[in-house]
Amino acid sequence: MDAEYLARFRERQAYETDRAAPPPGFPTLPPLPLGRYTDPEFFELERDRLFRRSWLYAAHDSDLPEVGSYRLVDILGAAILLVRGTDGEVRAFFNACRHRGAPVVSGGCGTARMLVCQYHSWGYDLEGKLQRVPDERDFPGLVKEDLGLPPVRCERWGGWWFVNLDADAVPLLEWLDPLPRLLDDIASSPVRVIDTKTVELGCNWKILAEGFLEVYHARTIHPTTVAPTLDTRGTVISLFEHGHQNMLSPVKEGTRGDSRETLRTLEHVPAVFREMIQPAHGIFPNIISPLDARGFPFLVFWPLAIDRTRLDIIWFAADWGDGELPGKDVWQKRLDRFDVLMEEDYRNLVPIQRSMEFAAHGGQVVNYQERRIWHVHAWIDKVIGADRVPEHLRVPDLLADWVEKF
Ligand code: FES
Ligand SMILES: [Fe+2]
Repeated sequence: MDAEYLARFRERQAYETDRAAPPPGFPTLPPLPLGRYTDPEFFELERDRLFRRSWLYAAHDSDLPEVGSYRLVDILGAAILLVRGTDGEVRAFFNACRHRGAPVVSGGCGTARMLVCQYHSWGYDLEGKLQRVPDERDFPGLVKEDLGLPPVRCERWGGWWFVNLDADAVPLLEWLDPLPRLLDDIASSPVRVIDTKTVELGCNWKILAEGFLEVYHARTIHPTTVAPTLDTRGTVISLFEHGHQNMLSPVKEGTRGDSRETLRTLEHVPAVFREMIQPAHGIFPNIISPLDARGFPFLVFWPLAIDRTRLDIIWFAADWGDGELPGKDVWQKRLDRFDVLMEEDYRNLVPIQRSMEFAAHGGQVVNYQERRIWHVHAWIDKVIGADRVPEHLRVPDLLADWVEKF
């Protein structure tokens, strides 16, 4: 299976390396309108019709290790509480008491036997049912069964829990399709969160995200960190349904040299992803992950304001059972190196935002090897509903014929 996969990849790599132009029939993409990054009306559409209706990453199984484990996450300003119930299932709720809306949990995470409101001590069980009301005699007619914590849709892919603020959303696995079919090996390999970092940046969330949708910039801004190890000319890009996409870059032979090979490998991941291919998967709308078989991060992009973005960087390592993380020092070096690379990426973001605000350059030009960016924009409009997007800001789905079907 590995050999077959690799042979197919090498064929596509050779095509990309040798081509003198984009493949025949590939459309010329017009510039992306700058208002998509600066217009408050478009930002509101993204917030209300895209993010509030999308499946968004909330936590990993290892963040909620036992019955009663809870975790509070900020999903676009909404405080969402994830709790592992007595049946082992994870559920999500708004962190809002049914009495007068106070939080039932304060602080990021912990373990509880009961969720007790911080204001007047109404108590909810781990499944969100209201169990205890102090001075219940003063609430004639109160039906406790009707006053559970307000639920939020919460579903899993592998060990990853996603939430959706839209109660009518399609099931998570349908939204993610075809990624669960393509990445079953990764999703079924036990992993554990080993590091989480949060950074805030002064730019629109898409400016940041787009820096991870192409390797065109590698030679310019990553001359010592990325460029020496990746054959960017041979990079193979795939566009998938539902806005998902990936990019597989050939690793130049013998260039890893970062001791990564000493780290534990994910249980079911094909060997080709260890040293030969560097993947980067885009999970629509706001996750990028270089799914490396020796452990990998999720980069999750959150719009805080039209020109303000929070980036969560969550690192997963192959689960190692008991004791300390094996290869702790190698891991630390790897995380430090990643920070250096990320700093290189951050440098241009704020100036780009400024250029856009002053409409200094007319529009974002996107070339063939940057087509993942177009694909994501087209899907943003599809999810928002193209007719809701002001006409001068629309991005049509010009790449529909270039989407790979399975
Ligand atoms: S607001 Fe929760 S008990 Fe009063
Ligand atoms: Fe980069």
